[in-house]
Amino acid sequence: MSERADLVITNAGELLTLDDDEDGPATGAAMRNLGIVEGGAIAISDGRILAVGRSSVIEARYPAERTIDAEGHVVMPGIVDPHTHLVFPATREDEFEMRCLGKSYEEIAAAGGGIRNSARKMRAIGMKELHVAARRLRRSALLHGTTTVEIKSGYGLETEAEIRALEVARDIDDRGDVVRTFLGAHEVPDEYRKNREEYIRLVIEEMIPVVAERNLASFCDVFCEEAVFTIAESRRILEAGIAAGLGAKLHADELHPTGGAELAAELGAVSADHLIRVSSAGIAAMAEAGVVAVLLPGTSYFLGMKHFAPGRKMIDGGVPVALATDCNPGSSMTENMQFVMTTACLGYGFTAAEAITAATRNAAFAVGLGDEVGSLVRGKRADVLVLDVTNYRRLTYHHSVNHVRTVVHHGEVVT
Ligand code: NIG
Ligand code: FE
Repeated sequence: MSERADLVITNAGELLTLDDDEDGPATGAAMRNLGIVEGGAIAISDGRILAVGRSSVIEARYPAERTIDAEGHVVMPGIVDPHTHLVFPATREDEFEMRCLGKSYEEIAAAGGGIRNSARKMRAIGMKELHVAARRLRRSALLHGTTTVEIKSGYGLETEAEIRALEVARDIDDRGDVVRTFLGAHEVPDEYRKNREEYIRLVIEEMIPVVAERNLASFCDVFCEEAVFTIAESRRILEAGIAAGLGAKLHADELHPTGGAELAAELGAVSADHLIRVSSAGIAAMAEAGVVAVLLPGTSYFLGMKHFAPGRKMIDGGVPVALATDCNPGSSMTENMQFVMTTACLGYGFTAAEAITAATRNAAFAVGLGDEVGSLVRGKRADVLVLDVTNYRRLTYHHSVNHVRTVVHHGEVVT
């Protein structure tokens, strides 16, 4: 019996399916299981995965309009980047240089730079310009293998500008592969510095209802940090988001151990992100509640930190771990998930297999798309990469170059 396919990718040296017949994100030792089919192939039809198996079997059973010969290279699922701020008004290379000369990220922020610097520019920029820059970054991420990306608002810090950011993220969406998160509580803007309670009220009473009503975001996020939003404030904001139908996410324990991981577990958040200073109790609580830890090693690197999140401890403690770029103009100016995977190996002591699982299958669960993308399984979206390496370990080892040779997105060959 044969069934027609639009596309078959055949002759993969290693086809990484990320499929172990288990539902949910991978934890513990399972993060090292890439479900490899040697000499594998994948058949695609109508933007969906039709079948995965050995090349001889797939070729015989699925005659295709078009065939791509992977020539013994690695074939893997499209990468999912579950934490970015890639809609922003301007880059901040001046602040980067200040940091290189010795100023800290927090000093720059306290002096009115950082997120508030971006917020001032965000309010002045036109929709078109914002669009062009965001599209360019999205395209570059795609060419580096990122087929699904989460984008947060959070540079507007006023209702109209927050909505504008989410609309831009929606407009660059190619068929459900941009997940939108409302992050109005990213910082307290200039005009509310003396009355932060008033700003929190604006987020809860005005922004969240509008965002939910217009269906502009799936998640609500808060920058929970000593100098930004406290645990109590974060709880109020996230509870309001949950009540409005938004899933909860949290920038937690990034610069100081504030108990953000514990709060994420208590609220049943989908993910807690950053976690550089997470406590042992926080790790245990996340494992227990099944909260995905989204780790951002590129941010530790770009902030020049010696200290990385305890990623190894989290995997060994049973927390489902994902990786993301945190792409933003202040603390992580990159859209390249391959760089992030290498940095995770060096900064956390991950194996290549753990980094790949964290950047695909587990990252998909971190944005609520675990049943749709992140692994090569019949019925899922046909987001597939052909790399230029013949074994997957070389992806993280040979660093700072783009190993993606072919991107298939929704079943279509992008490059
Ligand atoms: O994820 N942590 C909060 N926000 C960003 C930084 C944003 C910026 O500096 O523009 C982050 O690191
Ligand atoms: Fe972030």
